[in-house]
Amino acid sequence: MKTDILLGLQWGDEGKGKVVDVLAPQYEIVARFQGGPNAGHTLEIQGKKHVLHTIPSGIFHNKIMNVIGNGVVIDPISFVEEVKGIEALGIDICKRLILSKRAHLILPTHRLLDASSEALKGKEKIGSTLKGIGPAYMDKTGRNGLRVGDMLEKDFAARYASLSGKHQQMLALAKYEYDRKAFEESEKKWMECVNFIRTMMIMDTEYFLNDALKAGKKILAEGAQGSLLDIDFGSYPFVTSSSTTCAGACIGLGIAPRNIGEVEGVFKAYCTRVGSGPFPTELLDDIGEKIAQIGREFGSTTGRKRRCGWLDLPALKRAIMLNGVTRLDMMKIDVLNEFEEVKVCTHYMVDGKQTDQLPYNLSTEIKPVYKSFKGWGKLPDISSYDKMPAELKEYIQYIEKAVEVPIKLLSVGPDRSQTLIR
Ligand code: IMP
Repeated sequence: MKTDILLGLQWGDEGKGKVVDVLAPQYEIVARFQGGPNAGHTLEIQGKKHVLHTIPSGIFHNKIMNVIGNGVVIDPISFVEEVKGIEALGIDICKRLILSKRAHLILPTHRLLDASSEALKGKEKIGSTLKGIGPAYMDKTGRNGLRVGDMLEKDFAARYASLSGKHQQMLALAKYEYDRKAFEESEKKWMECVNFIRTMMIMDTEYFLNDALKAGKKILAEGAQGSLLDIDFGSYPFVTSSSTTCAGACIGLGIAPRNIGEVEGVFKAYCTRVGSGPFPTELLDDIGEKIAQIGREFGSTTGRKRRCGWLDLPALKRAIMLNGVTRLDMMKIDVLNEFEEVKVCTHYMVDGKQTDQLPYNLSTEIKPVYKSFKGWGKLPDISSYDKMPAELKEYIQYIEKAVEVPIKLLSVGPDRSQTLIR
C-alpha cells in the first residue's frame, strides 16, 4: 500500500483541515509530518468550528489512528491544551493519537528566542507566529534539541535545564527583556504538560507506519503551512522553518519515496498570505478588503488579518511542479460568488520580460498579468458538477488546462456537506 499526501500549494490556510476531514474515512491512519503549533487547521462539523494546531485532522473520526511524525515540533503546553479541548468533546484522544519519539520539543525559551529574533529584525521581520518554530528547528539541525523520546530518559530534567540555560544566555546577549515571573510559571507548566505527555502513546512511529503499509493499511500524510512557505523553495527568508513540500512527508514520517501514492494539492480560488514577504497578486484595494471580509480571512492561530489577492497561476504551477501533484482541490469558491469579475494571474512581467517563473531576487519588481473572467453569482446546487454555473466551469477548466492537473474536489463552504467530489 502507498501513502497519499495532502498539502497546501499556496502560503498556508488553504483549507487543508477540511479536506483531510472529508477524505479521512478513506484512510486508516492520518499522519502530520512537519510544522507545529504555528498551523491552524479549521474544521467545521455540524456547524461547530474546531481548530487543530498540532493534532492531525483525522482525530474526529473514531476508526482513524493519528500520528504526529518526527518532522513535527511539539510545544507541550499548547499540545496538552489541544488534547484536553478534544477530550472535553467526549473523544478518547489518547487511544487515537501516537507521538513520534523523534519529534522535537519547543521549550518556553524557544518562544522567547523567536520574539527576540523578530524584534532584532525590526522592519525586516518575518511576521512569525511567535510559537518558537524557527528556534526549535534551529536546535534540531544544530543538534542541540530535546525530543519526545528524551522525556522517557532519567536525565531529561538536567538536559532541559542545560538547554534552557543556554537559551537564557542568548537572550541576555541579545538584551531581550522578558517577564521573569511569567517565564518561570511557563517552565513549571511545561514540565507538568511533559508529565501528561509521558502517559500517552509514544513510539518509533517510522516502524508503526511502515508496518501499517505492509499490512495494507491506507495512510494519509497531512501537510501544514503551504509550499510557498517551504524552507528551501518558498520566498526565503519569509518562510517557515520546515519542508512543507512533498519530500518533507518522507523525511517527516520515515516513509520512502517509492511508497508515496497520490499527491493531493489544496489551493483557494484566490490567494492569501499572512505575515511578511512577496505576494505578487496582492490586492491593496477594496476588492482585497472584500475578499478578506467575505472569506473571514483572519489567522486561526494568531488572529492576524490575512493579505488577499487573485489566484496566481505561476506560483500554483511552481508548487505543483515541486510536489508532483496528481490531483487538486479548489477551496472557498463561494467567497468569490459576489464578484462580477474574477481575475487570474497568468504570467508576470519581470524586467520588462514576460515570464511564469518566480524570480530568485525578492526585491525585483513583479508585475502580474491578468486574465479576466465573468463572475458566476450565487451557487444554486452543488449536488453535481453539471449543475454548476457555466462561468464557474469556465474558470475551473481554464485553471485545469493551465496547470495540467485535474481539480477533483470543489469546496463551497466550511462544512463537510459543502463539498463536491468530481
Ligand atoms: P513561523 O513558522 O511561525 O516562524 O512563521 C513564518 C512565516 O510563516 C510567517 O509569515 C507566518 O505567518 C507563516 N506561517 C506559519 N505557519 C502558518 C500557517 O499555518 N498558515 C499560514 N501562514 C503560516
